[in-house]
Amino acid sequence: MNDHTQKAAIRFNKWADSYGDDRIAPWFRYYQRFVISRLNITSGDTFLDVGCGTGWAVIKAAQQLRAGKACGMDISPKMIDKARLQSAEAPNIEFRVANAEVIPYPDETFDCIMCTCSFHHYLHPLIALEEFRRVMKSGGRLALLDSARDVSFPIWMQDRWRRYLEKSHVRYYTTTEMKSMIEASGLHLNKEIETINKFLFQGKVFTGLMLFECVK
Ligand SMILES: C[S@@+](CC[C@H](N)C(=O)[O-])C[C@H]1O[C@@H](n2cnc3c(N)ncnc32)[C@H](O)[C@@H]1O
Repeated sequence: MNDHTQKAAIRFNKWADSYGDDRIAPWFRYYQRFVISRLNITSGDTFLDVGCGTGWAVIKAAQQLRAGKACGMDISPKMIDKARLQSAEAPNIEFRVANAEVIPYPDETFDCIMCTCSFHHYLHPLIALEEFRRVMKSGGRLALLDSARDVSFPIWMQDRWRRYLEKSHVRYYTTTEMKSMIEASGLHLNKEIETINKFLFQGKVFTGLMLFECVK
């Protein structure tokens, strides 16, 4: 683990206890549910959530799988401990502690990959995208959601202070930057970017999310 990912793991280890149960959790579930719906999961699919946190989306996706398997990976061991506890009964779920830049699965393993609100923590984002592509089956789908720096002034501001104050934060990308990285990784952008604007959800202001749906 390099210095940056170690810092990210420490930061998210601290959040793991309350993650998924705190005031912000309904918002996470709101967009995760939306992203899962965009992947059109079928019952034999293999599914991976990169930066899965405590695994809510993996558990949800697994409910749609009969023959397939749902996997989640995260840099934070405590997030993964909690995910495993919450899914102990499920036979078709697997969680691993791992860095998005070194995905611990063979080439062409997954039909569906999602990555929500995690990408801006990656030190080498292009390497992560190349890894997504490597582990994706041909014909596989990726749905990547993160904050967009160019569509919302509050997000632009947030990016500024997070870069200085938050040890795991690398940067929020602009939609143009994301599109160039996707192209450079060899993935193909399949669907239009959707900027999900939602204001004042449970007393908090959320705005400026971008969603990229890609195929291999
Ligand atoms: C804000 S949480 C999002 C979790 C979940 N995807 C969701 O939408 O609720 C960001 C997650 O990314 C993970 N993460 C950060 N850097 C990572 C990396 N390099 N590789 C894998 N996971 C990482 C963190 O540990 C954390 O659990």
